Amino acid sequence: MEKMKTQIETYLAHSLEALKDGPVKEAMYYSLLAPGKRLRPILFLKVLQAYGMDYSAYIDIACSVEMVHTYSLIHDDLPAMDDDDLRRGRKTCHKQFDEATAILAGDALLTQAFSILSQANITDDKKIQCIRILAEASGQNGMIYGQQEDLHFENKQATMEELINIHTHKTGKLITAPLLMAAQIAAPQQKDVFVELGETIGLAYQIQDDILDVTGDEAIIGKKVGSDIENNKSTYVSLLGLEASQELVKDYFKKALECIYKLKINHGIMIEVVQAILKRVK
Ligand code: IPE
Ligand code: IPE
Ligand code: MG
Ligand code: MG
Ligand code: MG
Repeated sequence: MEKMKTQIETYLAHSLEALKDGPVKEAMYYSLLAPGKRLRPILFLKVLQAYGMDYSAYIDIACSVEMVHTYSLIHDDLPAMDDDDLRRGRKTCHKQFDEATAILAGDALLTQAFSILSQANITDDKKIQCIRILAEASGQNGMIYGQQEDLHFENKQATMEELINIHTHKTGKLITAPLLMAAQIAAPQQKDVFVELGETIGLAYQIQDDILDVTGDEAIIGKKVGSDIENNKSTYVSLLGLEASQELVKDYFKKALECIYKLKINHGIMIEVVQAILKRVK
């Protein structure tokens, strides 16, 4: 996975080279090249690899998802949203630069993602499908809607059903998107299983994130511990407590493994990624 991560990061740096210089470009670099886990592009490339394809030809598409994700983090940290000062072990974008620059850097990363996707070397039909998947997952039927609901349930405890709705959108959609984009390229007939897999991993991932907000080590997770509590967020930990949340993560991972076995792929490759996520401490 380390080689894949390096390939992703090399392309991320390259993808901004042709942009006009100035503080917005600097802020884009700063946040995009900060040490993220690159989970979403890795998921995309691992699916291609699990179908026996040479994933190296698709790094640009993988990176488009990471750009949308990074934009969502820059905006998530803004004072108007979670108001956080630390991200990926660095000052948040608006703290390092200023709010206007951070807003524009987020906007520019979102836009650049679709520019890159539109230039990908795949058939036009697959390209349009990928653009649509990423747009739907990011917008008001996807991550943004989840963020809207996340904010709505500050200072007010969400029910289990409402929490699932928040997490499925704010996190699940941008984890399902790379799986679905890879399925579109490698195995369109198995799309439904990838949606189920993505929603399952997405839920488990955000529950873990809620847990790490309480139990994590700031020096390792690279963001502030206790941010959810400070903002009075509705999280799995606030609804169920730590132990029940930890059990739920394990249940969702079992379900993720069941999904993987429904696919006609090299199962080991996908299981390795899912296990790496399950054991994550950051
Ligand atoms: C953080 O995402 C926001 C969530 C949706 C939980 P990641 O945990 O993937 O953060 P990075 O990309 O590694 O910084
Ligand atoms: C963020 O959820 C999900 C996004 C769409 C960025 P959180 O607000 O819990 O993510 P962190 O904890 O700040 O990374
Ligand atoms: Mg948030
Ligand atoms: Mg946040
Ligand atoms: Mg969080």
